Amino acid sequence: SLPQYVKVVEVSPRDGLQNEKMFIDTSIKVELVNRLSNAGFVNVEAASFVSPKWTPQMADATEVMAQIKRRPGTIYSALTPNMKGFEAAKGAGVDEVVIFGAASESFSHKNINCSIAESIERFEPVAQAALASGLRLRAAVSCALGCPYEGAVSIDQVVAVAKKFDQMGCHEIDIADTIGVATPKLVTQVMSAVTQVVDPRKLSGHFHDTYGQAVGNIMAALETGITIFHSSVSGLGGCPYAKGATGNVATEDVLYLLRGLNIDTGIDFDEVVNIGQWMSSHLNRAGGSRAGNASFAK
Ligand code: HMG
Ligand code: MG
Repeated sequence: SLPQYVKVVEVSPRDGLQNEKMFIDTSIKVELVNRLSNAGFVNVEAASFVSPKWTPQMADATEVMAQIKRRPGTIYSALTPNMKGFEAAKGAGVDEVVIFGAASESFSHKNINCSIAESIERFEPVAQAALASGLRLRAAVSCALGCPYEGAVSIDQVVAVAKKFDQMGCHEIDIADTIGVATPKLVTQVMSAVTQVVDPRKLSGHFHDTYGQAVGNIMAALETGITIFHSSVSGLGGCPYAKGATGNVATEDVLYLLRGLNIDTGIDFDEVVNIGQWMSSHLNRAGGSRAGNASFAK
């Protein structure tokens, strides 16, 4: 049976913006985070403490964290690939740090410049420090449903990496379709396998929407017991190290689906539509959510 409540994690300030070529003013990033928390999101992925050489758009992570208005009840997350990123994130006051590995060796090398095994070694101290500091810990498993370099990815490998993160004490583990190639049948297979070894309440679906399948993929994941999903207003985003991949599933589309299923999210749909239109026009492009555009036009 479907859940009564789903946690929607808004990732636009990080995944949505990280791939933008033109540097976006810190004040715009701050306004985006603030408008999102005011719309009712209980978890906003606000920034990324990565190397500015690798992802220049996220270079102002510390400033973003310092300038946002904290809404009580909202968890502000940030990516932390290593101890340097962790220390900076902790100093900036993030509530949840995100380590990010992959189920594909090639993508691990391209994205974080090391093998999967090396990445796990590098994440161990980050995980320990996060838990010792009382911060929430989350992990992403990239390319869990396909890899831009290797194509199909073994489900056993996805399960193995997810299990490692679970053993590290992660509160949440994101099963990510980095390049948005999955279809619902594969999602059912992968989620069913991972939920055999990790408590489904800890798992989330992080779906990019390159092939327009993400809403269907969320439906499939819901049916396997997943209750946390990531999305980005207006479908903004993409990973600089996953060529051709488009943004995350649009939050407006996800909220429209969930509303139709009578699943509560606590999020103000109309305000999210406005935020998506505002951010799109700031980036000089049309809104990227079908549900958002249709609602805005009414
Ligand atoms: P490296 O070059 O192997 O690392 O990069 P390094 O330790 O040799 O450091 C290189 C330079 O970066 C040094 O500076 C470090 O100080 C600096 P230099 O001495 O040359 O001046 N540096 C840092 N600076 C700030 N913060 C840090 C940091 N670490 C090192 N934390 C590294 C390894 C992991 C750092 C690099 O590969 C990296 O930053 N990768 C991140 C790439 C990225 O941002 N990808 C997108 C996010 S992941 C994603 O989108 C997927 C996700 O959405 C899920 C999905 O869809 O699949 C999460
Ligand atoms: Mg992503």
